[in-house]
Amino acid sequence: MKKTAIVTGASSGIGKAICETLLSMDYEIYGFGRDFSKSSQMASDSAFHKVEMDLLDTPKLENEVRAIAKGNTIDLLVNCAGVGYYGLHEELSSKSISEMVRTNLEVPLLLSSLLLRKLKESHGTILNIASVTANQSNPHGAAYGATKAGLLSFSKSLFDEARKHGVKVTTILPDMTDTNLYRNADFEASKDENARLVPQDVADAVRYILSADPHMVITEFTVRPQLHRIEKK
Ligand SMILES: NC(=O)c1ccc[n+]([C@@H]2O[C@H](COP(=O)([O-])OP(=O)(O)OC[C@H]3O[C@@H](n4cnc5c(N)ncnc54)[C@H](OP(=O)(O)O)[C@@H]3O)[C@@H](O)[C@H]2O)c1
Repeated sequence: MKKTAIVTGASSGIGKAICETLLSMDYEIYGFGRDFSKSSQMASDSAFHKVEMDLLDTPKLENEVRAIAKGNTIDLLVNCAGVGYYGLHEELSSKSISEMVRTNLEVPLLLSSLLLRKLKESHGTILNIASVTANQSNPHGAAYGATKAGLLSFSKSLFDEARKHGVKVTTILPDMTDTNLYRNADFEASKDENARLVPQDVADAVRYILSADPHMVITEFTVRPQLHRIEKK
């Protein structure tokens, strides 16, 4: 029987690569995003159900997720949607701070809460896409790093809370990956292929984590490129 996954951030970058990998693993996917024009081929796959909406519309999100959960076993939740605003902290607008905290932290907390009973029934998995910034000091990215550290902390506690019910919780911590995430920044991932990840690298980590023997839980998975280099725009 096909497994069912709910994936946020499904429309681009890392989330899109994860969805493509999950499709190849025979998952049925409910993929959340605002603009699927960059992923039209995947969106036309009959096993992929696109949910085109703003995740920050909380009442709508709750309704959508409840409707999906009502008719399906839920085996996997991937919290991948995220935004980043960078720069000196005193220069970040309240709107940017709120958008980051809500997208990167509030939405994963809410979706986990809405789906946990279903995941306990299925002995399912939650994959939270945090970042290496969760474990380090992030000058010029203090607020972004704080949301990711919060997500890592949440994942650790949730695993301890839910493990006796068979739920697995994994935090993936990717380093700089060549995606649209840095559109608001004055830097971007290096063009040197040894100094940046591509979305498929993170999707490969997902495949590895989901293919592990069921008695084993990979609670944290850090993925880094061989070289450390950042490019100024
Ligand atoms: N790129 C990196 O270097 C890197 C490193 C570590 C961790 N990460 C994390 O990886 C995750 C994916 O980011 P990415 O690098 O793949 O960047 P991306 O290409 O910009 O993807 C971000 C995704 O989040 C979705 N999203 C953001 N806000 C949303 C909202 N309000 N409602 C609905 N969807 C929303 C976007 O949807 P639309 O495009 O349809 O709006 C998009 O699918 C993020 O959590 C990011 O923090 C990235």
